[in-house]
Amino acid sequence: MKILIIGNGWIGQRCKSAWSDAVISDKRIMSVGDVLALINEHHPDAILNAAGVVGRPNVDWCEDYQIETIQGNTILPILIAEACQQKNVYLLHIGTGCVYYGYSSDPKGWKESDFANPLAVYTKTKYAADLTLSALPNVGIGRIRMPTDYIPSPANLIDKLIRYSKVADVINSVTVLEDMIEVFRELLVRRAGGIFHVTNPGAISHREIIKMYEELVDPAHHNEWITEEELVTSGLAKKKRSNNILQSPNLEKLGIKMRPVHEAVRDTMEKYAKIKNSNI
Ligand SMILES: NC(=O)c1ccc[n+]([C@@H]2O[C@H](COP(=O)([O-])OP(=O)(O)OC[C@H]3O[C@@H](n4cnc5c(N)ncnc54)[C@H](OP(=O)(O)O)[C@@H]3O)[C@@H](O)[C@H]2O)c1
Repeated sequence: MKILIIGNGWIGQRCKSAWSDAVISDKRIMSVGDVLALINEHHPDAILNAAGVVGRPNVDWCEDYQIETIQGNTILPILIAEACQQKNVYLLHIGTGCVYYGYSSDPKGWKESDFANPLAVYTKTKYAADLTLSALPNVGIGRIRMPTDYIPSPANLIDKLIRYSKVADVINSVTVLEDMIEVFRELLVRRAGGIFHVTNPGAISHREIIKMYEELVDPAHHNEWITEEELVTSGLAKKKRSNNILQSPNLEKLGIKMRPVHEAVRDTMEKYAKIKNSNI
C-alpha cells in the first residue's frame, strides 16, 4: 500500500512518522497538473490530503484572509480530488468536525449525515469542500476535532489549553492523534467512501483535560475560567468558536472503533507527562 501525503504540516508529518511506507510531499499545489505530476512521480494507491489553511497564530487569521482560506481549504481539495478521479486514486481528505456549532438535539451528537451550520470563514471553507468532495466516488472525508497528542506541539489541544490564562469551560468531542492515525490508515486501505467523524466516542470538558494535566504533569498550573460568550466579549477571540459533540455511525458501520475519549485522553496525558518530565 503506497500512501502519498500532501501537506507537510503538523498532521501530515505526524501520519508520515507512523507509516513507514508513506511518502510526504511539500510541493506547492496550484493546479490539477501539479497533483498529476505528483501521482506520476510516486504512483500512490491512495492520497491523504493533510494540506490546508488553519490560520496563524490561530483560526481568526482566516477572518481577514478569506481568499487565501478559500484557496487552501476549498479549491485545493477540489484540485486534488480532480486529479485523483482522473487517475483512479483513492483520496482521504482531512475535514473538521468544527463545522457544527452547538449541540445536536440527538444526545449522542451530530451524525455525518447531519447538515452543518458553519459560522467562521475557516469552517465555511472546510464545509464547502466536504459538500463538493462528498459528491464524488472513491473519496473519503475524515473529520477530526481538537487534535490531542502525547507529543508536545503548539497546535496540540493540551498545549493550547495550558498556554491560555483564561479558558472557556466547554465540553467537546476530541480526536486523539494515535487513534486517528490508525483509523485513517484503515480508511485508506479499505478505500472507504463518504464522511467519517474521526473523534473518540463520548465527550470531555476542558476542565477535565486541565485537571488531568495538573494531576499528571504540573500540579502548579493555574488558569482562570470564563464562559464561551466571554471568549468573544473579552476580545480573546474574534469569532465564536465551535463547541460540539459528534457521533460516528459511519465508522461503526465499518466496524472501526476508537477508544472512549476519557481512556484515550488519560493515556495520552500519561505519555505526554513522560516526555515533559524527561525534558526537565
Ligand atoms: N490543527 C487542527 O486543530 C485541525 C483540526 C481539525 C482539522 N484540521 C485539518 O487538518 C489538516 C491539516 O492541518 P494541520 O494542523 O496539520 O495544519 P498545518 O500544520 O498548517 O499543515 C497544513 C499544511 O498544508 C500546507 N499547504 C497549504 N496550502 C498548500 C498548497 N497549496 N500546496 C501544498 N501544501 C499546502 C501548508 O503549507 P504552508 O504552511 O507552507 O502554507 C502546511 O504545511 C487541515 O485540512 C485542517 O483543516 C486541523
